[in-house]
This record gives sequence, C-alpha cells and structure tokens, in this order.
Amino acid sequence: MAMIVSHYVCSSCGRAEEKPHEICPECGAHNSFEKCLFSDGNYRQSIRAKRSFPSGNVVSVDVKPLSSIRAEENTRFSTHMFEFDRVLGGGAMKGSSILIGGEPGIGKSTLLLSSLSYISEEHNAVYISGEETDVQVRLRADRLKLNTDKIKLFSSTSLSSIVDMLWRERPQVIVVDSLQTLSTSDIDSPAGTQSQIKACTHALCETVKILGITMFLIAHINKDGSIAGPKYAEHLVDTVLYFESAEGMLRIVRASKNRYGSSDEIGVFVMGENGLTCVEDPSRAFAVERTGDTPAGIVNTVVIVGTRAVVVELQVLCVPSKTQNRRIFSDKIDVSVVQRVVAILETCTELNLTFNDIYVNVAGGMRITDPNVELALAVAVYTSFTSSCLKSRAVFYGELTLLGEVRKAMFERKRSRSALSMGFERIVCALGEDAEQDRDEMYINITDLKGIKTVIEKLGSNISKEE
Ligand code: TYD
Ligand code: MG
Repeated sequence: MAMIVSHYVCSSCGRAEEKPHEICPECGAHNSFEKCLFSDGNYRQSIRAKRSFPSGNVVSVDVKPLSSIRAEENTRFSTHMFEFDRVLGGGAMKGSSILIGGEPGIGKSTLLLSSLSYISEEHNAVYISGEETDVQVRLRADRLKLNTDKIKLFSSTSLSSIVDMLWRERPQVIVVDSLQTLSTSDIDSPAGTQSQIKACTHALCETVKILGITMFLIAHINKDGSIAGPKYAEHLVDTVLYFESAEGMLRIVRASKNRYGSSDEIGVFVMGENGLTCVEDPSRAFAVERTGDTPAGIVNTVVIVGTRAVVVELQVLCVPSKTQNRRIFSDKIDVSVVQRVVAILETCTELNLTFNDIYVNVAGGMRITDPNVELALAVAVYTSFTSSCLKSRAVFYGELTLLGEVRKAMFERKRSRSALSMGFERIVCALGEDAEQDRDEMYINITDLKGIKTVIEKLGSNISKEE
C-alpha cells in the first residue's frame, strides 16, 4: 500500500520543508507554508530513503478558494536567445519542465549548453550530462566560446544520484542531457526502455516541481518523429518542443505543447561555426530570391506558424509515372492533403493527372500544417503539369472546399502585409464580399463558387508557356 507522509510546502515556490517557516527560505514569501500529503510510489522509495524528504505526488490537504492563490508576476526569465524565448512563449516559465526532442546531431545539446551558460549569469544553473563526459562538455563549451565561470556540471546517468544532487544543491535551472541515458535501479531494464523513461520522467518532474526548479529535459526521437518512449513523458511536462530538420544549416524549434504559450510557435536558428544563432527575420528565411518569370511548378504562399506569417515557396514536379498508379511524394505537406487537392483540381479543371507522379517540396524544409496552403498547392500542380510559368510575383492562399471554392484565410491582413513587405505584386485569395476597395489593385479576389477554376482562368493572362 502506498505510504502517505505529511510535509509543508511553500504555496509560492513549491519548496518542501519538514516544519513550516514564517518566511520561505527559497522565495521569501510570508506565511506561505501549507500542510500537504505525499503519496509514495515503489520505484521512488529507494530515492526517498536516501533523503529526509519524500518525493511523491503532492496532495493538498485543504480545499481553498482559487482567489486565495497568489500568482506571482515576473515568473519568466530569458534564455538570452530571442528565438528560443519566443517559442517558449516569451521566455522560460520559472519552475516549469520543458521537454526538447530531436534527431541526433540536430543541435539540442548545443542550444541548451549555450542558453544555460547565459542563464547561469543570473541563476544557479547545472548541466546534467548523461551522454557526454565532463571533458567533452568542456570542449563543446570552448568551441562555442561560452563563459563557463558560473555554469556547473554534473555527469551522471543515475536517477537517484541526480535527485540527491537536486535536493543538495537546490539549483534554479537544470538541463538534463538526455532522458534516454537515465536509469533507476528500482527497475530491472536498461536505460532508454519505456519503463525507465516513464519512471525517470515522473521522478524528475515531481522533484523539480517540489523544489521549484526549471528543467530542460532533452530527449531523442523515434524514426516516426515522436519522442522515444511513452507519450506519457509529454503529458507530464509543461512544454514540448521539437527540433525539426530544415535544409542546410537552418534549424526550426517548434512547440507542440505549451501550457504557457502558443503551441505551433517556431523559433528559427542557423547552425554555424560558433553554434546556433537566432535568425533575425524568420518570415523571410524560407523565401527564395528569384528574378524574372517564376518557373513552372513554383508558387509562393504565406502560412501562419504560431504568431508569425511566413512566406514559403512550394515546389511541385509532375512527371509521367513509370507504373500504372499515380504516386505522391510529399514529406513537408501531408500526402492526404496533396491527394485531396489533386482530386479537386482534376474535377474542377478537367486536368487528368492519373498517369503522373507528383513530387511536392517546401523550400527551406518547413513542414506545413496550415490548411490555407491548398490554393497555392493546386496552382503549383497546375503550372507544373501544364509547363506554364507565372509572369508576376504573386502569392496564393486559401483553403479549398471539396467543390473547389476558395475560403477566406484566417489572419488575412497579417499574411498580405508579410507578402507585400517582401515585394510581391499580386495576392490571390478570397477576401469576402466586404473587401475594402483600396485593396483591389494588388488583390485578385476569388469569391465566386467556381473558385479554383476562376483562379486558373484569371491566371490565363498572367502566365506564359515555358519554352
Ligand atoms: P549537437 O548539439 O551535439 O546535437 P544533438 O545534441 O541534437 O545530438 O550538435 C551536433 C552537430 O552540430 C554536429 O553535427 C556538429 C554541429 N555543430 C556545429 O556545426 N557548430 C558548432 O558550433 C557545434 C557545437 C556543433
Ligand atoms: Mg546531444
């Protein structure tokens, strides 16, 4: 049966003590200690035995009015990398746990070691390395030209020694590199297995919550792109970030869950000689500079990613299929979206793409989930198939209905502003009936029921056959 132990926890910072204090030694809050009960799990008992404090689920004894809870201001701190701050929702939330997944070699350790070096100037920060030796971490810090005066290092793969260290040192910020290297002797399976990952994430999340530590937890990902181990780890933490592969040296960090900010927000970085640097204007980072006519199959669109409008270039290649069946190759836009758009295009324009293979790419390697990409995708398939090129610099956006109508895009103004600031001359989208007159010059407003068919007809005067 689970053991229940009572303790006193500061309602402001989460510090646990055996006796209540008038002034919290951690955050200085007055009369903030409340009696709490901790239930204990088996795998945590050995950790608990080594300390005078239990690590367990915190169960508050009292039911209390929500209004009586004091919400602190200034609860965030900067990582000193503005793109990282942005993806976290405006800096890291104090006491939160942040899981960061990504393929090996993409730059997780580089990003976190750099940030922690800056963070350590103002906070007690410890880098916990289970993957690399002390010397390897030092060499990396030297290569990144980091200030190593304040940052502390703890090399261990043992969960209990890490938890002990946290109780002893009481750091404010930690990086754990990586989750898959940790293990607890309470579980009879090697590090990296589902049960170990589950136990280690649980124990770490509970410990940092009680101690009010901000934790950056690095994790590997599976071939399918999800964090290796159970989804359970993602449920326990406050924020989940994924390093996405992008072309060349570009690196995208995307929030897939964020209790303290917008999910789907991205941070864009470039990997260089001295590690990762933030991209100044990510709205432009994925655009491709071109002069003259736009080649067949190339169409620009504006997608909303988190809080940004980003101009991206779609590239489509339709080639006669060598098999009886049409095949679609698309890893940046969901294949089912491409299939649906091709079916709509075939129905509305009488194109026959049955014996074509279709390759879809997004320049810069950004993965697109915004449904407003559909109009641009349809136009790119059309121009590729008909070998025609757009004469003017145009962007297209809008979701397609199954009948081929173009829907008005969310955040239309934001999209158009982004495109116009980059010198695009035409915006093809649905503005709705109430569109302002002054916007008509640069807009081609598709409001009729024929939708995509009208777009193709209107393109007639705006496209030419490729030589
Ligand atoms: P790393 O942060 O070790 O990746 P992860 O922790 O996600 O496995 O990044 C390693 C890659 O980054 C490696 O291919 C070398 C490259 N790199 C640079 O290009 N510049 C640098 O300054 C550093 C430190 C690494
Ligand atoms: Mg690493």
